[in-house]
Amino acid sequence: MNARVRPRTPARRASARSTRYLQPCVLHVHKDYEAMSRAAADRIVEAVKAKPDALLGLGTGATPERLYALLVERRRAARSLFARARFVQLDEWGGLARGDRATCAMYLRTRLIEPLGVDSRRFLAWDSRSPDPSDECARVAAWLKEQGPMDICVLGLGRNGHLGFNEPADALQPGAHVTELSPATLHHSMLHAAKGVVQYGLTLGVADIMHSREIVLLVSGAAKAAQLRRAFLGGVTAQCPASILRLHSALSVFCDRAAVGLGAATGCQEVSSRSRNGERNGRK
Ligand code: GLP
Repeated sequence: MNARVRPRTPARRASARSTRYLQPCVLHVHKDYEAMSRAAADRIVEAVKAKPDALLGLGTGATPERLYALLVERRRAARSLFARARFVQLDEWGGLARGDRATCAMYLRTRLIEPLGVDSRRFLAWDSRSPDPSDECARVAAWLKEQGPMDICVLGLGRNGHLGFNEPADALQPGAHVTELSPATLHHSMLHAAKGVVQYGLTLGVADIMHSREIVLLVSGAAKAAQLRRAFLGGVTAQCPASILRLHSALSVFCDRAAVGLGAATGCQEVSSRSRNGERNGRK
């Protein structure tokens, strides 16, 4: 099933001035996590076939795990897939030892980078324990300036609305930066197995993300429903960094029914007509 969902009335109630710049909010809602992951994998494979040396930005966390496993499966069936693709890690837990299994770098290496046979020249990983985190940000920024922009950025949605480690704040930062992590973020499941203590976050900034030619946002499970509503039905605000994605012209939101709370009063409705995004990305 691949329904498309759009907000019902709240966006329309806003003034013409505030809505004029917003892209229509279209969510590709799949029946469950597996179907959502498969649809996102289809889109990424399609994009890499069209541009074999595409640069992919990679988020971590529980949500993209199945997507990454599916990409590895796809490559097993077509060995040349991803042979030229390049990858950049979205964010990292600062302060953990480089080999700590809880780091985002290890997560990506074990689930995607090594199984795809990608060598270090095609994968930019953050150093979780750089002696100077600001230098580390400058290194990542320089790499992205040379190799970027990203062609597709794969994102998850933080439970507090964060994107990468761009946490809710009064102002958002454009480029790679060191960030203070919120208590909620420090309770993330990735850290349950951490050997060390996280001291800060390292992340690409919102301009890096927004300059990606295409964005794939994955949202799964009822625990994300409130933030998904806030991001796509509330105002565009630095207090909910994910809301800024609505200003991107090539955003695909892949989610499951639990995340949109279909059947509950979400302010969303299924629609049958195809939107601009739906025509491009909603193929089955
Ligand atoms: C961590 C990651 C983010 C990710 C978020 C969501 O904060 N650093 O990149 O988007 O988790 O994680 P989950 O999918 O486990 O909810």
